[in-house]
Amino acid sequence: MKTKIFTSPSAQLETPCLVAVVVDRGEKDKTEVIVSTEERAVADAAAELISTGDLSGKNFELSWLYHPRGLKAERLLLIGGGKASRFTPSELRKVAGAAVRALKSRSLRSLAFLLPQTISPSEAARAVVEGAVVGDFDPDTYKSDRKDQKIGELTLVARGDDPMLERAAEEARIIAESQNFTRELVNEPSNHMTPTMLANRARLMAQETGLRSETYGADKIRELKMGAFWGVAQGSDEPPALIILRHEPAGAPQTPVLGLVGKGITFDTGGISIKPADGMEKMKYDMAGGATMLGTMRALALLGARVKVVAIVCATENMPSGKAQKPGDIQTAMSGKTIEIINTDAEGRLVLADGLSYARQLGCTHLVDAATLTGAVVVALGYTNAGIFSNDDQMCQRFQKATERAGEKMWRLPLDDEYREQIKSGIADIMNTGGRWGGAITAAMFLKEFAEETPWIHLDIAGTAWMEDGKPWIAKGPSGIAVRSLVEFVKGFANS
Ligand code: BES
Ligand code: MN
Ligand code: ZN
Repeated sequence: MKTKIFTSPSAQLETPCLVAVVVDRGEKDKTEVIVSTEERAVADAAAELISTGDLSGKNFELSWLYHPRGLKAERLLLIGGGKASRFTPSELRKVAGAAVRALKSRSLRSLAFLLPQTISPSEAARAVVEGAVVGDFDPDTYKSDRKDQKIGELTLVARGDDPMLERAAEEARIIAESQNFTRELVNEPSNHMTPTMLANRARLMAQETGLRSETYGADKIRELKMGAFWGVAQGSDEPPALIILRHEPAGAPQTPVLGLVGKGITFDTGGISIKPADGMEKMKYDMAGGATMLGTMRALALLGARVKVVAIVCATENMPSGKAQKPGDIQTAMSGKTIEIINTDAEGRLVLADGLSYARQLGCTHLVDAATLTGAVVVALGYTNAGIFSNDDQMCQRFQKATERAGEKMWRLPLDDEYREQIKSGIADIMNTGGRWGGAITAAMFLKEFAEETPWIHLDIAGTAWMEDGKPWIAKGPSGIAVRSLVEFVKGFANS
């Protein structure tokens, strides 16, 4: 999507569709719909429609005006932004996505979006571009009747000349396209996204963006003594891949070095502790954590973030076979800790354990991991919030601030020492499951053992990486959750 900026009066703008947000600034039960612009021409064009009382200003309500009086635009789309008092950049992001999706379904390819004046121009530009690019994505790679329905051009209509505007729009485009890059990977089924193919996609992206990349196979995984990772990988005929991407920009300080570790299970059958057939097809998205880290690295490279970041994706299938690990087996992790395998379906924490150790060995001073780790996080937080876990309050608070700015919903869950009891093993250092209760927490407690003293954040995105239903602003399917927050977090890291 090409973005342009238009700073002359919007009445002059020739476009197939001019989009303006209407909000309700009425108090209590009264509605009082207004167009969120001071530009007379647009407000005038909308005035008659508004005076009918047909508009409520409710979120994502669409009203189309053709050949609006006084404007050069062919159409004026008024889209509801909800209550004026609650109209934040996060709401604007969704409104922009919803507008784009409404246009796409009408085969329109170009739009102009009037930036609402209640939000600072560069923040508004960012929200609109991010929302529009994310809204433009559909997981239709394998549809033979796929039409190329992408929006070609987005014009931001702003008042005055804000020098920051162009940059904000460009950064937003990079970030949202990186989120879509992640969604593209997550959408691929396991026969089109083996560990080797994931590594190839990572390498190609690295070449395009100037990241350093390395990929290792089974030999190196064993040589590094990644017994936990290998325990999962040994059961599959598909070779595993240890994917490493490095962002080391000239002029970045020696420390901090941020390590991003992603779960890259390209298909999770459960292994010998096999999953029921019902719904197993969804386990193609069990590499979403890894894809999240790849998307994040793409954005960081293109933005030129001045901080060192290393991404590690532990990619393998989790399969039952004659070579597969079995419940009761004991694996020795890279850190030296011994793990009693109770359930081979708790494989994510195994591959991440060694990923975290490896990140520490490579000199990372701070760690973040992302994983579709547990069904239990879905029980705890549903499909709305991702789970955050951390051993470092300061790092965590900074991350939580980043999630707010990025407009992504995540909720911190506890990691009290008491939960450690649940993963004690009678015969090894630790077990890979913690019983029925608090499953998202005991999984995180397991990872904490491998983060050791390093400040660390764990994101459990099992409930949020795949959207069961579409929303007005985003397609159903892979969400790309956490890419925007991670990029925002790293940008903050670079400035401190
Ligand atoms: N990949 C799954 C978790 C998952 C569940 C992701 C639902 C997305 C949607 C993970 O590997 C898994 O199987 N976890 C088990 C752990 C259990 C055996 C302790 C689970 O949550 O049931
Ligand atoms: Mn599993
Ligand atoms: Zn899994």
